[in-house]
Amino acid sequence: MRRRTHYLSPKLRRVPFPEKAGHGLIAAVPIATGELLVVWGGKIVARPVIDELSEVERSYVLQIEDHLFLLANRPIETAEYFNHSCDPNAGLAGQISLVAMRDIDPGEEVCFDYGMSESSDFAEFDCCCGAPNCRGRVRASDWLRPDLQARYRGFFSPYLQRRIDGVAVPLPAAAASRPRPRRVAVSEPAPSEPAFAPVSAAGS
Ligand SMILES: C[S@@+](CC[C@H](N)C(=O)[O-])C[C@H]1O[C@@H](n2cnc3c(N)ncnc32)[C@H](O)[C@@H]1O
Ligand SMILES: [Zn+2]
Repeated sequence: MRRRTHYLSPKLRRVPFPEKAGHGLIAAVPIATGELLVVWGGKIVARPVIDELSEVERSYVLQIEDHLFLLANRPIETAEYFNHSCDPNAGLAGQISLVAMRDIDPGEEVCFDYGMSESSDFAEFDCCCGAPNCRGRVRASDWLRPDLQARYRGFFSPYLQRRIDGVAVPLPAAAASRPRPRRVAVSEPAPSEPAFAPVSAAGS
């Protein structure tokens, strides 16, 4: 039996949404404000790994930090079918969880605004959420919009909230593309220089 790599609320059902590239999740029973909907699992990868993926594979990626992404496990699990809405009823609670932003009725699709988590160019697409306030396109720059910053305070991924609050710590130069450290062969002699300066004797 395949092991699940996520928590998904038993109140959700997967149904077809052909206009949204396949499927989506609806509430099977009433869901109350604040209820936990999902805790996603997967593999944490950096941008160079994403660049090797197909467009479809990239659509199952969740950005969790400036330079880190959660890549869905294969085969794709039901928890991956949350669609985007410009008028969402769910929002992020931390990096990898979603909660209900308001009470949700049975039959309603459960969606979050991808602008709460995404800020990368590959995550853009034309939106057909049908909301009166639909932006028409989901863009990497959506998190910069003052209207969304006000509406989604408390529901952004923490890395975006830090950017919005101006407390983001810049990455060390080109962290995402830094070459991997050289592997040292077991037989290689130890370097002659100590890694750290020796601690001098007390009082000297
Ligand atoms: C994580 S998948 C969501 C599940 C997807 N509907 C499926 O069945 O595979 C994200 C992708 O779904 C599609 N999608 C999600 N919300 C959408 C929306 N509001 N309008 C159009 N396409 C949407 C986009 O192709 C997006 O890249
Ligand atoms: Zn929309």
